[in-house]
Amino acid sequence: MIKANYPTDKFKDIQTPFYYYDLETLRSTLSEIKTQIENTSFEVHYAMKANVNTSVLNEIKIAGLGADCVSGGEVQAALDAGIAPSKIVFAGVGKSDWEINLGLDNDIFCFNVESIPELEVMNELAIAKNKTANVALRINPNVSAHTHHYITTGLSENKFGINLSDLDKVTDLVLKLSNINLLGIHFHIGSQITDMTSFQDLCLKINEIQAHFDARNITLKHINVGGGLGISYEHPNHFPIPDFEAYFKVFRKHLQLKPSQTLHFELGRAVVAQCGSLISRVLYVKEGTSKKFAILDAGFTELIRPALYQAYHRIENLSSELPEEEYDVVGPICESSDTFAKEYFMNGTKRGDIIALRSAGAYGEIMASQYNLRKLPKAYTSDDLK
Ligand code: LLP
Repeated sequence: MIKANYPTDKFKDIQTPFYYYDLETLRSTLSEIKTQIENTSFEVHYAMKANVNTSVLNEIKIAGLGADCVSGGEVQAALDAGIAPSKIVFAGVGKSDWEINLGLDNDIFCFNVESIPELEVMNELAIAKNKTANVALRINPNVSAHTHHYITTGLSENKFGINLSDLDKVTDLVLKLSNINLLGIHFHIGSQITDMTSFQDLCLKINEIQAHFDARNITLKHINVGGGLGISYEHPNHFPIPDFEAYFKVFRKHLQLKPSQTLHFELGRAVVAQCGSLISRVLYVKEGTSKKFAILDAGFTELIRPALYQAYHRIENLSSELPEEEYDVVGPICESSDTFAKEYFMNGTKRGDIIALRSAGAYGEIMASQYNLRKLPKAYTSDDLK
């Protein structure tokens, strides 16, 4: 089994479970993004929801990415990380008044707005501050993302966004509101999308929607296509960097961007997933009647994706070169959903072995909980362990 090139010797002295971020992988990923959007009018806002580890955010800031936030906490974290307010977008179907005020006070680039009542409240809050809120309307494009149903968001039955049938009504309202400035339109069709035709479908839909605004003589300054680019959970060692070239090419080719317009992206997973692993120790190997259980000291409290989305994460035993055997790899939480993988082949495993759950840099550490009164996991970077 090919394994990550990690400082396993250093891991031995650290209390598990913990997150490990390989900053070289992150830097290469960021540099590839930069290469692909150089000399274009494309701007990438990193989706903070994927991971807000301080060292990770610092690299992202250095690379010059903006931030896509979905809460006041994330807006504050982006500001604290030194990301310029002019690069911050703030989305979310339910923004509280204090969160909107935080955005207004800091003159963030744009609010992605999802409903009529939200627009009305935002206008009132902006009037009270004598400010103007820049907004993009989040439109539900009714494009299928061909991904897990929990993370598909672009279909009309979702709670997200404004339905196409309401677009005229919402546009009329925006134009009437005194302290709202319509900057652009926003979309997001889902996450972990590896089939580029979904993005192509989105582009074609956006072209139609643009025509609608053209017909009304409304010039949009920007288009925001959200995030969603997937990664290879199966082969993180072979594909440590997502295919950004193919991804951006779809938008270059199929989206009719006007010369005056900028195109914005909100990528989360594709930026950070492959640089992170959850590092754990084997507590016990339990022989069942027909199978073996490798019981780890990490559970769904540290990485919930397998339990919540039946997600696959590659599991590597960094301490063993023994022939592979079949295990159910489970955590210590008192629920049977606390299972990372069933009938999984990994090198012969014993108590104390160090295990890496790969591709856990996105929606890993940030989704950790204290259920069972467990401690939140610590995190270390490759720079920390040099
Ligand atoms: N923009 C919007 C409006 C979003 O809702 C999301 C993710 C993103 C951008 C970033 O998407 P990404 O590039 O990371 O696919 N916890 C789930 C993923 C939930 C994604 C929610 N929205 C998981 O672990 O798979």
